[in-house]
Amino acid sequence: PRVTFLGPSGVARAVEARTGDSLMAVAVRNGIPGIVGECGGNASCATCHVYVDDAFQSRVGPPNDVEEDLLDLGVSDRRESSRLACQIALTEELDGLVVHTADERL
Ligand code: FES
Repeated sequence: PRVTFLGPSGVARAVEARTGDSLMAVAVRNGIPGIVGECGGNASCATCHVYVDDAFQSRVGPPNDVEEDLLDLGVSDRRESSRLACQIALTEELDGLVVHTADERL
């Protein structure tokens, strides 16, 4: 599946992912700024925070319980569309996924 990361000023980076990859792993592999993945994908650091584009929210679904707690505590600008990228597994169904990052430097 293909994933596009969009920075706040509208800069876009599209990358190819493998089915089963976490969105965090794809971002880190491609050096997407602002997505660090410090805890290695255990939903305990919040350095992989992204905003899922409106058009994909129903397909991606809501945060799980552990993720929900961390988003509440560990994210400064939490929104309705906030997710931890490490908790999103990419599937063919999510091909074309667009996520927004908080970092300017895409
Ligand atoms: Fe740490 Fe996602 S990588 S919470």
